[in-house]
Amino acid sequence: AQKIIIDTDPGQDDAVAILLALASPELEVLGITAVAGNVPLSLTETNARKIVELAGRQDIPVYAGCDSPLSRKLVTAEHVHGKTGLDGIELPAPSVPLQSRHAVDFIIDTLRQHPEGSITLVPVGPLTNIAAAFSRVPDIVPRVQRIVLMGGAYFEVGNITPAAEFNIYVDPEAAKAVFASGVPLVMLPLDATHEALTSRDWVEAMRALPGKCGPAVASWTDFFERFDREKYGSEGAPLHDPCAVAWLIRPDLFEGREINVEIETQGEFTTGMTVADWWRVSGRPANALFIRHLNREGLFALLSERIARLP
Ligand code: BDR
Ligand code: CA
Repeated sequence: AQKIIIDTDPGQDDAVAILLALASPELEVLGITAVAGNVPLSLTETNARKIVELAGRQDIPVYAGCDSPLSRKLVTAEHVHGKTGLDGIELPAPSVPLQSRHAVDFIIDTLRQHPEGSITLVPVGPLTNIAAAFSRVPDIVPRVQRIVLMGGAYFEVGNITPAAEFNIYVDPEAAKAVFASGVPLVMLPLDATHEALTSRDWVEAMRALPGKCGPAVASWTDFFERFDREKYGSEGAPLHDPCAVAWLIRPDLFEGREINVEIETQGEFTTGMTVADWWRVSGRPANALFIRHLNREGLFALLSERIARLP
């Protein structure tokens, strides 16, 4: 199985991404590292522990990482995810302990201990933990097999400013370092993830699953959907973060281009923008596979089949 570390700020869609990974034999989740993003760190790490417990996977270690961006003040998204970050269903206080090691140390140690090129990082929140690990111990960078991240937007609107997607906007300096790292990158921007819209039928099928995970996914989706319905007038909730995990399992469900993507950190109006050279006019070398479209039916069939395997 492909060994991965999920770096996350749960988040209802983060939660579904974690469940998809835990339900998929193609992937081995070595650990979950929490970062400040949708809500402050104390909530994201607690939410991560609630999610592994819900999945009956108390064996998955959860680490807390950076509580603020590298050099900016944290911007959160309670307006999307609710006060807890995981509003929609009340989950019990987790009995899974928080690991004592810092998430950045876990990322560094894990990359050092495993053979070079054997670990994929899957960040679905701001890139602070990853950039912090890379800057503290640069020799781990070439040991990373690949980074598959949810973040950015180019043709599609930004969702936190007119030009920027939330994960990149929160810590553009971290994003810039990751995009300049030389590690092979796959990015799932809003351009693709806004096509991952839940349908009523799919949500009701989740709710009808026996066990706890399916109904939890339905309740999270119900909550998360409100924001997009009011904001974009769309039916359904975009399951952004599960797209990153799904790409690892079924890359054939996605299409994109290897292009150059630069992160704007200085712009008066465009800070956090992912400037994507789709037409290759800059002459700058490609540094990312920019995913632009996905197969919605295939994605939701995969999610249904996998979530149904969980308790
Ligand atoms: C991203 O921001 C968060 O609110 C979601 O969890 C997702 O990772 C979408 O812009
Ligand atoms: Ca997220």
